[in-house]
Amino acid sequence: MRLAPAVLLMGLLSGSAGELDPFFWLSALRSRGYHAGSLQADTTGGDCPAECDCPPTFPVAMYCDGRNMTRVPYVPSRMKYLYLQHNLITAVPDGALDNATNLVWLMLHENRLASGKVGKRAFSKLQNLDRLYLNHNQLGSVPAGLPRSLRQLRLDNNRISAVPPDAFEGMSNLTVLLLHNNAIQDVGGALAGLRSLTLLDVSSNQLQKVPESLPEMLHQLYLESNAIQAIPGDFPARFRQLQYIRISHNQLTDKSIPPNAFNVSGLVELDLSYNKLERIPTVSTSLEHLYLQANQIKEFSIGSFCSVVDIVSFSRLKVLRLDGNEISRSDLPSDSALCLRLAASIEL
Ligand SMILES: *[C@@H]1O[C@H](CO)[C@@H](O)[C@H](O)[C@H]1NC(C)=O
Ligand SMILES: *[C@@H]1O[C@H](CO)[C@@H](O)[C@H](O)[C@H]1NC(C)=O
Ligand SMILES: *[C@@H]1O[C@H](CO)[C@@H](O)[C@H](O)[C@H]1NC(C)=O
Ligand SMILES: *[C@@H]1O[C@H](CO)[C@@H](O)[C@H](O)[C@H]1NC(C)=O
Repeated sequence: MRLAPAVLLMGLLSGSAGELDPFFWLSALRSRGYHAGSLQADTTGGDCPAECDCPPTFPVAMYCDGRNMTRVPYVPSRMKYLYLQHNLITAVPDGALDNATNLVWLMLHENRLASGKVGKRAFSKLQNLDRLYLNHNQLGSVPAGLPRSLRQLRLDNNRISAVPPDAFEGMSNLTVLLLHNNAIQDVGGALAGLRSLTLLDVSSNQLQKVPESLPEMLHQLYLESNAIQAIPGDFPARFRQLQYIRISHNQLTDKSIPPNAFNVSGLVELDLSYNKLERIPTVSTSLEHLYLQANQIKEFSIGSFCSVVDIVSFSRLKVLRLDGNEISRSDLPSDSALCLRLAASIEL
């Protein structure tokens, strides 16, 4: 039990691999001599449902993943980390998690949850919940009554088409929201209050426009593989923190991009590949990665990168992809070497 804080710290500090790997905790514990099979409930750490593992050395975690479970088991109230992923769970009824008031992580991904089977008050007692993974289920809409304390919410790879306007209300600490691979046509104003959101992934949906009322703290915005036809006039100038924008595989044309839309400092990566652009849009000199492959670009306009080429105003571009367009290396103007002096890779 004394080892728990050290193990916890390792998990949190070890970066994404440790954080994302549900088996990380167990393997860390195994390497300390603990074996799942030898565990019995109620000997050391407290009670534990027979079908799950509750390591005595880390008594606030309960491992029930990958066991063909069809329902949410009894959860002792001491639990902070609950691993229920990769099962056959079809429902989270109201009350099922009411004893689990200390939960910090709830992993329910890769199950068979459908809308209507998640109770409106199923999560209402989880006031300390930090991460909720509901990805890879069969949800048709964002479940109601999600805890406001969430910092990470994964809803990707479901069948979500409906995002109620109050779906994320009050989640002022939410930093990561994953909604990719769903059937969303419009998120309406649902994202408006997410003042801490830094990563939003709505790729592979059915959006026809850039979502309105995007949070202004965004660092990463992923909108690829939708049906977006236009970029709003104040985008992305409104987002001072925005560093990564991906809008590849959409329906953008030259006309649908306002003149200086991407000429905003701070941008590091811009992916506009697989659209219908005929010209290179004007980009900020701070940009480092620009992906424009598979458009219909017909000319290499150096003015898109450098308005005046002098000793200070050159482009910071390192990678430029223009392959799959209607230009070739011979279209590169002679002054491009000066403007794009840092470009280690230009693909044409
Ligand atoms: C889950 O069920 C499948 C199909 O019946 C079976 O092949 C698999 O071994 C089961 N897994 C466990 C952990 O019981
Ligand atoms: C909650 O805890 C009480 C008291 O330990 C127990 O009787 C009840 O079955 C638990 N409920 C659930 C849903 O686990
Ligand atoms: C956000 O985090 C702060 C600091 O941890 C906390 O005091 C606050 O209650 C949290 N907000 C919500 C909505 O949970
Ligand atoms: C891009 O923006 C900068 C700073 O606002 C400005 O000086 C420059 O002329 C703009 N580039 C183009 C091609 O309009």
